Amino acid sequence: MMTFEHDAFDPEALVPGYHEPVLPEGEPDAATIAASETRTRRWSSNERERLKYGSNMHKQMMCRMFEETFNPYRPSVLKWPTLDEAALHRITSLPIWDIAVQTEGKARLRMAAYARTITDPEMRNALAQNAWEENRHKEVLSKMVQHYGIPLVPEPPYEYPKDPEWAYLVTGYSECIDSFFAFGLFKVAHDSGLFPPELIDTFEPVMQEECRHILLFANWVAWHRRNLNLLQRIAFEWKVFRVWWFLGMERMELAKSLDGDGNEHAQDNNFTVTGAQSMTEQDLSVAELMATCVSENDRRFAGYDQRLLRPTTMPFLVKCALPVLRFFERRKQKK
Ligand SMILES: [Fe+2]
Ligand SMILES: [Fe+2]
Repeated sequence: MMTFEHDAFDPEALVPGYHEPVLPEGEPDAATIAASETRTRRWSSNERERLKYGSNMHKQMMCRMFEETFNPYRPSVLKWPTLDEAALHRITSLPIWDIAVQTEGKARLRMAAYARTITDPEMRNALAQNAWEENRHKEVLSKMVQHYGIPLVPEPPYEYPKDPEWAYLVTGYSECIDSFFAFGLFKVAHDSGLFPPELIDTFEPVMQEECRHILLFANWVAWHRRNLNLLQRIAFEWKVFRVWWFLGMERMELAKSLDGDGNEHAQDNNFTVTGAQSMTEQDLSVAELMATCVSENDRRFAGYDQRLLRPTTMPFLVKCALPVLRFFERRKQKK
């Protein structure tokens, strides 16, 4: 079995034909940053024909979107603002840093491993680029952790997946779930005023990048699906079903890591609701938080060509749950 130590990741060696982007040297000025910010958020194809999902045009559209919305920031020049003691404590005690670093570490290798198996050169390149960007997220996190002296557990070595397609699907759908909640939490953190705006700004490109990633993923799934024959298609749908099952079980496991007294254990993924409260001083109801996730999700996707498909499962589930949550919250208030 092939394993990789935490600092070893070379997408050019893993994925045939892939070349890492060359990033501009030095510190970018404000105008350059603003231009990258706009470019990364908005993209439309000038193709006027009707889009057939699974077609060559569909593939080219998603690959061009991914390439042209690339944001060339460099983790090494990011600014880490000085934090007062309260903010520093708030950040170092968030129980997410180990999971975040390791998630990016797994994602980069799984994406590169799957990219390696793709015969179509454009699609292979787009997925390799996605893997590269996950590695950049990991670098951003490492810089931050170092700067603020956040203690991390040692990273386990990363295993090369036995079934790269399975691993890619798990990563892709996980990103669809996690990003949906992360968008809402990020907005709560932004509005709370508990974190310095410079720190929020530093993570903003990472957030929007996850939006691009799941946009690419949703379209890749649709494209891939439509290019399978009947038997392959059945096998694929069965795999997708098993992936959702696996992710559901995994998230329930993590939810259980709350102990009997309701105390959070040091690391858990059930961070959305329990962790949201550490992002703000206001009392935040679950319904409000979920409504924020929905509106932030819509806002982040709004700038991309309307013909590209969006991830739909999480927004749909949460929109269905909202009236129920609101009903119970109103009842609780009356008591
Ligand atoms: Fe990432
Ligand atoms: Fe990602």
